[in-house]
Amino acid sequence: MERNEELFLIKSIAEMLNKETNMEVMLQQVLKRILELTNLKTGWIFLFDEEKEYQLAAHAYLPEALELKGRKYMCEGSCRCIHRGLTGNLKKATNMIDCERIERSIKEKRGNTEGIKLHASVPIKLGEVMFGLLNVASPGKLNFDDDELHILESIAYQIGTACERIRLSEQERSMLVLEERNRLARDLHDSVNQHLFSIMYTARGTKSISENQTITNSLDEIYYSSKDALAEMKDLIWQLSSDHIKEGLKIRLVNYCKTLDLSVSYECLENKIPDYLETAFWKIGREALNNINKHAESSKVIIHVGKIESFFTLKIEDNGCGFNMNEVSNSGFGLTSMRERAKLINGNCLVTSEPNKGTVVYVKVPIRKERKEYNESIN
Ligand SMILES: Nc1ncnc2c1ncn2[C@@H]1O[C@H](COP(=O)(O)OP(=O)(O)O)[C@@H](O)[C@H]1O
Ligand SMILES: [Mg+2]
Repeated sequence: MERNEELFLIKSIAEMLNKETNMEVMLQQVLKRILELTNLKTGWIFLFDEEKEYQLAAHAYLPEALELKGRKYMCEGSCRCIHRGLTGNLKKATNMIDCERIERSIKEKRGNTEGIKLHASVPIKLGEVMFGLLNVASPGKLNFDDDELHILESIAYQIGTACERIRLSEQERSMLVLEERNRLARDLHDSVNQHLFSIMYTARGTKSISENQTITNSLDEIYYSSKDALAEMKDLIWQLSSDHIKEGLKIRLVNYCKTLDLSVSYECLENKIPDYLETAFWKIGREALNNINKHAESSKVIIHVGKIESFFTLKIEDNGCGFNMNEVSNSGFGLTSMRERAKLINGNCLVTSEPNKGTVVYVKVPIRKERKEYNESIN
């Protein structure tokens, strides 16, 4: 590549990176632009997360064999470049001789690889922290020379900086959203909540000085509906406010019980629960506690978090009025959403109840296996 062409390439990529504010769109666009300007045929970008998982963040003009089954073979399993990237053994742009994803495609006759055998792998970094890979390839191209690797490296540096810029601006945006939600929560607390509280106690107070049955019945109705509205408002305010977001599962569940005036006994036999599970357990738990608050006619709850064989478990138990499971339709949003949330993480949620014998919500989720260590000898 001539010097002028190089400069044009770098400038045009920099301009594109500078404009875009959406990570996915930015990566997809920049990849296509790189291919256009370098006359390479195909490329893809992997991004790594904190848990050392990778995801295919962008791809362009993949050969048929890699496009197969919705790019299943690009999104699953490890390979040399991923392994080297994740173990810190890919310091600079490199020719990745014999791409294993291609090799496996050929061996298992998965489809046309369109003459692609090797790709260049270029670390995407910010400072010394590597968080992704830019891979590019062309049919029959068996070597990327030093100049080509050098240019790809400069482009990958720019991509790294652009990713960070977008990440920071997304963070700032979500901070603004959080601030707005907190403001709304405060306003609701100071206005609607106080009014409901005053309606509730005025109804109670007026009832005590009235002897007319029709009036006292209506005052009871006012009292109970404002009490329900107040409970729902408390929940809404709590969900809107972000103060609890950084707290762990135990504090969140226990504090939520306090908000609902439920007395709780909390047992946790597991010190460290993975983040994805904390979120799911928290959301299912909140729903179960809402049901206890609304329906159980009991204010005692036992929460148990544990581990049995290869499963994490969450049990939320009340000793309230229970319900007849044959009479409750499945159309209620709460029970359905608990089951769906458990399913999303490959687990299940079982609700058992009997009239006057309380209710148990039991969630069981398989522990995610660590990614299998990459082994050079495995094909
Ligand atoms: N802990 C509980 N105690 C008593 N009844 C419950 C409990 N949890 C759920 N239920 C019953 O199951 C029904 C369905 O619950 P759900 O799907 O959450 O819908 P919703 O709470 O909106 O009615 C409730 O209406 C209630 O009759
Ligand atoms: Mg409910």
